[in-house]
Amino acid sequence: PILPVILAGGSGTRLWPLSRKHYAKQYLSLDGTTTLLQATVARIGGLPCVAPLVICNEETRFLAAEQMRQIGKDGALILLEPAGRNTAPAIALAALQAQVDGDDPVMLVMPADHKMAAPDVFADAVKAATPHAQTGQLVTFGINPSYAETGYGYIRTGDSVGRGPALSVAAFVEKPDATTAADYLATGGYLWNSGIFLFRASRYLAELETHRPDVLAACRAAFAGKAGDLDFLRFDAEAFLACPDVSIDYAVMEHTNEAVVVPIDPGWSDVGSWAALWAASEKDADGNCAIGDVISLQGSGNYINAGSRLVAAVGLQDTVVVETKDAVFVAPKNRVAEIKELITQMTADS
Ligand code: GDD
Ligand code: MG
Repeated sequence: PILPVILAGGSGTRLWPLSRKHYAKQYLSLDGTTTLLQATVARIGGLPCVAPLVICNEETRFLAAEQMRQIGKDGALILLEPAGRNTAPAIALAALQAQVDGDDPVMLVMPADHKMAAPDVFADAVKAATPHAQTGQLVTFGINPSYAETGYGYIRTGDSVGRGPALSVAAFVEKPDATTAADYLATGGYLWNSGIFLFRASRYLAELETHRPDVLAACRAAFAGKAGDLDFLRFDAEAFLACPDVSIDYAVMEHTNEAVVVPIDPGWSDVGSWAALWAASEKDADGNCAIGDVISLQGSGNYINAGSRLVAAVGLQDTVVVETKDAVFVAPKNRVAEIKELITQMTADS
């Protein structure tokens, strides 16, 4: 069976004001039904999986626990980082925990904050990828790129590996600059890294040992000081806080020779911005997505989310409006990335 490892420790600033420092995107319901974390668990319902490990930070533990309980996953163990050190250390703690009973499971590492329109397509890809992970490869899942996004990893695909859909990874480049990303799109032969991985616990730890022994040593020290009851597992804080902050992409994926990629097209979105959410949502004939109590006349290409009050608009084009009880965000859809500067300014002022 597969061990799902759900990464839920990121802080959500890009969907402000709906997401907040301690109420990140993964804990939000963006379509009025389940939250992104819950959808992540549901997505793998058809796969042969054991109870998932969820890894997040101390502050959000009750949100994570409550949302798992709501979907009948009380059995999930929640690993708590004293503070985030990014995904390479988070996955290392999960891999060490995966081995405590002397097992060496294949881990399906999934960000808790993605959207997928066709979960079945994804589940089939995981099945096809499993033999590769079992025999010691690091599998990533690749998405056909549609524009020169600089916030993603890019995978240059090589030859077929085996008889299934897997391709070798000729190069992995995390977050290239805009010119490089545009080059990749023009050249072709690249996929976006979805940020979802499948590998054996031992394989990941061995790669970390080779490429970032400092990260592995800090995680081993933190893990040696682990303590916890049945629900939450904590680690030695001093040791973990001394760990470098680095993602799996920079720490391992850019350097390993053992990676393969399985291309997928499950209607994936990482909901990385209001514009991305608009793109991944259902829209009316004029390209408007309205959530909540919204009246919009002669508008097109808008994303309007009324969280607590009526939002009424006339003649808006390609605009994002997000209304919540205590804050309202308005911006042209192609400038939502500048939310970063807004947040910096707000934190500086407060
Ligand atoms: N537990 C834990 N601890 N989780 C974390 C931490 C941490 O310190 N930091 C991030 N996460 C979680 C986030 O909540 C998210 O679900 C996932 O790990 C990935 O982190 P992001 O910060 O969202 O990474 P990214 O979006 O910049 O880049 C990654 O995803 C892209 C696709 O969405 C990379 O893997 C890229 O290569 C990839 O293209
Ligand atoms: Mg992300």
